[in-house]
Amino acid sequence: MIYRQTAPFPADFLWGASTSAYQVEGAWNEDGKSPSVIDMCQHAAETADFTVASDHYHRVMEDVALFAELGLKAYRFSIAWTRILPGGVGEVNPAGLAFYERLIDELNRHCIEPIVTLYHFDLPWCLEQQGGWNNRATIDAFVEYASTLFTHFGEKVRYWLTINEQNTMILHPGAIGLPEGGVMPTAKSLWQQNHHMMLAQARVMALCHRLLPAAKIGPAINTTSMYAETCKPEDAIAAHNWETLRGWNFLDVAVHGRYNSLAWRYLLDRDIAPDVAEGDAAILLQGRPDYVAINYYSTATIAASRGDASDISARAGDQQIMLGEPGVYRAAENPFVGKTQYGWVVDPVGLRLTLRKTWERYNLPILITENGIGAPDELEAGEVINDDYRIDFLRQHIAQLQLALADGVEVIGYCPWSAIDVVSTHQGYGKRYGFIYVNRGEHDLKDLKRIRKQSFGWYQQVIASNGQSL
Ligand code: BG6
Repeated sequence: MIYRQTAPFPADFLWGASTSAYQVEGAWNEDGKSPSVIDMCQHAAETADFTVASDHYHRVMEDVALFAELGLKAYRFSIAWTRILPGGVGEVNPAGLAFYERLIDELNRHCIEPIVTLYHFDLPWCLEQQGGWNNRATIDAFVEYASTLFTHFGEKVRYWLTINEQNTMILHPGAIGLPEGGVMPTAKSLWQQNHHMMLAQARVMALCHRLLPAAKIGPAINTTSMYAETCKPEDAIAAHNWETLRGWNFLDVAVHGRYNSLAWRYLLDRDIAPDVAEGDAAILLQGRPDYVAINYYSTATIAASRGDASDISARAGDQQIMLGEPGVYRAAENPFVGKTQYGWVVDPVGLRLTLRKTWERYNLPILITENGIGAPDELEAGEVINDDYRIDFLRQHIAQLQLALADGVEVIGYCPWSAIDVVSTHQGYGKRYGFIYVNRGEHDLKDLKRIRKQSFGWYQQVIASNGQSL
C-alpha cells in the first residue's frame, strides 16, 4: 500500500533517548545499594564490568544538563531495584529514593518527560538466591517494589515501563550474564520464570492503573520482523514459527492477557510449558497496557529447519543473533541488508514493517524505547568523535518511522539507544551507542569526561525541527 509519502511528527512527539541503571550509573555498592544479578554474574574478563560504568550516579546533574542541551523531550532510564529495596522487599533505602528524586526533578525542571523502566535485567541478587523468577514469591516482591515507586514518584512520572526485554532474558539468558558456575538454566525453568514475570507484569499494570489513573504503563519487548529466506512454503512456516516464538508470544500475553496458542502448543509439545496455578489466567487478564514499547535493532531472515544440529547458530549468546532450533527454524542470510561490525543486521525498512505489524496486531500506541548502532567510536584530536555512521543509521530509521506515521501507525516517541555511552550488555565499553562520548576505556577509567559526538549536534537539529531536518 502506498499512502502519502510523509506525515509530520505530532507536535507532542517524544523525541528522547535511553539508558539503563546498571549500564550507566556505576556506584554499584554505594549508599546502601545491594548487588543485583548483573553485579554477581560472570562476564568476560577482557571487557568492562558494571562497577563504574559511565559514573552517572555521581555526575547526574552534568548529564541531565547535556540532555537538556540536546533538546530531549523525554529520557528513558531504569531504576535499580537494589537501590530502592536492598533486601529485594522490606526496608526502603532513603538514599536510593533520593537519587532518583533528584534525577526526576531535574528532568521535569528541564521539561524532559521521565520514562521509567521498573526493571531492566537487574534482579536483586538476594532474590535470585531464593530462586529468582522461579520462585513465585518474586512476583509479590516485584509488586511491592513497583508499589513503592508508584507511591513515591507517581505525581512526577507519567510514563512507566514494566520489564525490559523479557524475551531477551528468556531466549538469550547468556547475553545478560550467567550465575556463578556458569550453568545455563533449563528451558523448563526459563519458561516458568517467564510465566512468573508475566503475572508480575500484569499485577503491576493493574496496580498502576488503580493508584495512578493518569499514568501510562506498558511492556518493553525486543521486537523485530522476520523474512522467509525464499518463497518456499516451508521457509514461510519457519519464519512464522520464529516470529511467534520470539515476539508475539511475549507481547500477546502482555496485551491480551493470554498465551499465544501456537507458542503454547510448542511449549506443551516439548514438555517445557510452565506450571499454571489456579487463578493465574485471571491475573494475566488484569494487565492492560496503555501502550507497547519496542526495542528495535534488526530483522531476521529465516529458513526451514534441516532437522539437525546444523540449524543451531554458533553465536547463541547475542540477543540479535538468531538461535536456530532443529524442527522449528534456522537462521539464513539476507543479501538485501547490511550489518554492523558486530554482525547485527541493519534494516531501517524493517522498522517500518515492525511498527505496522505491531500496530495492526494490538492497536495500541507504540513508543520506540531502543534503536541504535553499537560502534567503537574514536576520539580524535580536538575532542572530535565523527560518528557519521550513527547519524546515517538513525536518519534512515527516523525516515522509515515517518513513513510508518504516514501508514497511520500511532508512534508516540522515539528514544534511541543510548543517550550517553554506556557499558554494552555483554560487549563492554568498546561498543558504544551514545550521543555523548564518555572518556574511558574497557579497564582504564581515564577522566570519564563527557564529550559531544557529531551525532549530538545532528540529533539536536532533528529535535528542534520536530523531525523536519534529517
Ligand atoms: C538491548 C538492551 O537488548 O540492547 C540494552 O535492552 C542493550 O540493555 C542494548 O545494551 C544493546 O545491546 P548490546 O549487547 O550491544 O549492549
